[in-house]
Amino acid sequence: MNTQFKAFKLTDKVYWVGAIDWGLRDFHGYATERGSTYNAYLVLGDKVTLIDTVKKPFFQEMLSRISDVIDPKKIDFIVSNHCEMDHSGTIPEMVDLVKPEKVIASEMGVKGLADHFHKDIPLTAVKDGESMSLGNTSLKFIETRMIHWPDSMFTYLEDEKILFSSDAFGMHLASSLRYADEIDFGILHREMKKYFANILTPFSPLILKLLEKVTKLNLPIKMVATAHGPIWRKDFNTAFELYSKWSKKEASAKAVIVLDTMWHSTETMAKAIGEGINSTGANAVLLPLNSTHRSDVITEVLDAGALLVGSPTLNGNMLPRVADVLTYMKGLKPQNLIGCAFGSYGWNGVVVPQINQILKEMKIDLVGEGINIKYVPDENGLKQCFELGTEIGNRLIQLVNRFK
Ligand code: FEO
Repeated sequence: MNTQFKAFKLTDKVYWVGAIDWGLRDFHGYATERGSTYNAYLVLGDKVTLIDTVKKPFFQEMLSRISDVIDPKKIDFIVSNHCEMDHSGTIPEMVDLVKPEKVIASEMGVKGLADHFHKDIPLTAVKDGESMSLGNTSLKFIETRMIHWPDSMFTYLEDEKILFSSDAFGMHLASSLRYADEIDFGILHREMKKYFANILTPFSPLILKLLEKVTKLNLPIKMVATAHGPIWRKDFNTAFELYSKWSKKEASAKAVIVLDTMWHSTETMAKAIGEGINSTGANAVLLPLNSTHRSDVITEVLDAGALLVGSPTLNGNMLPRVADVLTYMKGLKPQNLIGCAFGSYGWNGVVVPQINQILKEMKIDLVGEGINIKYVPDENGLKQCFELGTEIGNRLIQLVNRFK
């Protein structure tokens, strides 16, 4: 067995024994330019417990880190906070090796693990609020459905006051530093925001309820040990507050203009719309899709008040990169946006209505019918674009003032 990987001690009883995926650059469609970690934790209770495992290719790395502390065969329980395979991927290998007494998951988690692995696993379901003794300490389980999957739960280690928060409050960030307070806050903010935007946006209303639920439980918390990225031992209120802010999707004077272009006509229109927006005191962010990944678009949209989408017509359709980003964003259900489509066409201007229809399905409040310009915008066409920008900008400023 590989023995060079070491465990990281969090407390006398708790060790980080996860894996660092320095090379991860794509997480089902989300660009992870800083890699990620899959955090597993070893709890040295009288009943030795492993909280989560790692993605399948990292089994030996996790095993090596566990072996740095104890013989892995001494593990009695495995807790699966979430059955997505970046965390459950090596449960089958661990079951074969360790033969644990129990693999503990939520009721949905038990079903999810059975449907993933089709294998004899000693699955034990726990209910929301249930506690389980490990002898010298105990665990409490908190159901957190849809954060990120129906099976998701938090596990709280009572005497050490550690909240194992699964996907919540985490980020895709590979690092040798285990604590968030050791890492530049700008990087943490960016990566946590990107994670929220790309993974959790559709569940924003549930996240608000979860924050309320956790607050009401009044658990003393010394650390929030996430499933990805660094562990919060200080300032976790900052993470809670950011989650609350992003979930509420407060009014914002920022307008995202996402576009692709063939011969620069749609690009020129986007720039004129942006100037109109900026002239009102609102703030336009232009994201050309030849150089912007879909996951960075949704990250910008997370705190925007408007979304405008521009595409020329190509063979009766929008450009493929526009279709890609719209499909991605539609699934993520960003809320509280105004917007519209715009673009140039040659002989068949069908794309602006096509995009407007998608924006409508995304429950975006359409501002007019958008702008459709034949071939190349002239002075009058650019004036129309500027005016659309001022209308969008004024609407955003009014909305922001209303919620002040
Ligand atoms: Fe990190 Fe939803 O898995």
